[in-house]
Amino acid sequence: MEFKIGLLGLGTVGSGVYKIVTSRKQHIKQKTGFYPEIKKILVKHPDKPRNVNGIDEILTTDANEILCDSEISAIIEVMGGIDPAYDYVKKAIISKKHVITANKELIAKYGDELREMADENGVFLKFEASVAGAIPIIHQIERLKITDEINFVGGIINGTTNYILTQIIEKGMKYDEALASAQKRGYAESNPDYDIKGFDALYKLVILIKKAFDVDVSVNSIMRYGINEIKYDDIYYAGKWGYKIKPFAWAKYEKGNVYGSVEPVLIEANNILASVGDVNNAVILRGDGFKELIFIGKGAGQMPTGDSVVADLIDVLLNYDIKTNRTSKRILVFNGSFTDVFY
Ligand code: NAP
Ligand code: HSE
Repeated sequence: MEFKIGLLGLGTVGSGVYKIVTSRKQHIKQKTGFYPEIKKILVKHPDKPRNVNGIDEILTTDANEILCDSEISAIIEVMGGIDPAYDYVKKAIISKKHVITANKELIAKYGDELREMADENGVFLKFEASVAGAIPIIHQIERLKITDEINFVGGIINGTTNYILTQIIEKGMKYDEALASAQKRGYAESNPDYDIKGFDALYKLVILIKKAFDVDVSVNSIMRYGINEIKYDDIYYAGKWGYKIKPFAWAKYEKGNVYGSVEPVLIEANNILASVGDVNNAVILRGDGFKELIFIGKGAGQMPTGDSVVADLIDVLLNYDIKTNRTSKRILVFNGSFTDVFY
């Protein structure tokens, strides 16, 4: 059985998603029972040269070709930004299409509204790839929260700035050269100020706070400093005194209050976080029972992020009922048995 998908965006992440879905079709079918098929792809510049084969027939610049197509059961939104992604995602949900997105700004600003709409319409809204690239941190938090109270979440959650600082510190690169290299590798946001000035990490932190603590925090209520505040001298003296400067974001939950910030910090050179270089991210979780967990992995880039998006797609397929076009959730009932609840 085929499961038809509309892909909104074919940039760094969209190309990764397309390559993984087409090359791993058979594996996905074996695991889920469905062949995923990307039926249409929305782009802005259809004539742009692209490093992806077999797409000429399915590119469109008209979002309605996807959003109004009743054969399409899910959209993958990897365009970025709010306008027009917000409207497209809402329209998809209202049309009972499952939504998978990597768009942290969208989820940080409108996640609650979209989640509510998705629940009302019986569709999934999945956003694993919006935080920490390949690290399945949203999934982990959801699991850990069942058995424990999480009271701290934080770490290095922007790959571009970690990459830039690593290139400056370890390879002696200049800032402009390191930024250009991050852009060339597809790590940076289309407006790199989002990375450099800390907005990207801020959006991710807001998503983590909501997931980990069940607290809604406005993007304007968290202190934010970017790596643009750092001078070459800061890096030099930090190294001389035994520290590395890392982009950092953290939040803790204490007695009903949330404290946190986004800012570069000094990390002792022998701390595990100091060794998290290149485009890697590290996410630290602390909880009453499990104490501390640290997850390290690629925080950006085509294939690491593509994997994370496709993992969400597989979750949707594992819970998809072709007869009703609805998803189900397996719920543990109090007598110890499982039941499938459709909604
Ligand atoms: P990108 O390379 O700039 O790609 C954006 C894609 O969306 C392009 O294909 C572009 O079309 C299309 N697009 C943009 N605006 C459009 C519009 N108004 N109408 C139709 N198509 C439009 O961006 P990306 O790096 O893949 O990032 C996409 C999303 O994933 C962002 O939310 C980003 O924050 C998130 N993300 C990125 C990474 C990463 O490593 N890059 C990792 C995690 C999450 P054209 O190709 O025709 O210009
Ligand atoms: N620009 C983002 C980063 C992409 O560098 O972390 C991954 O979310």
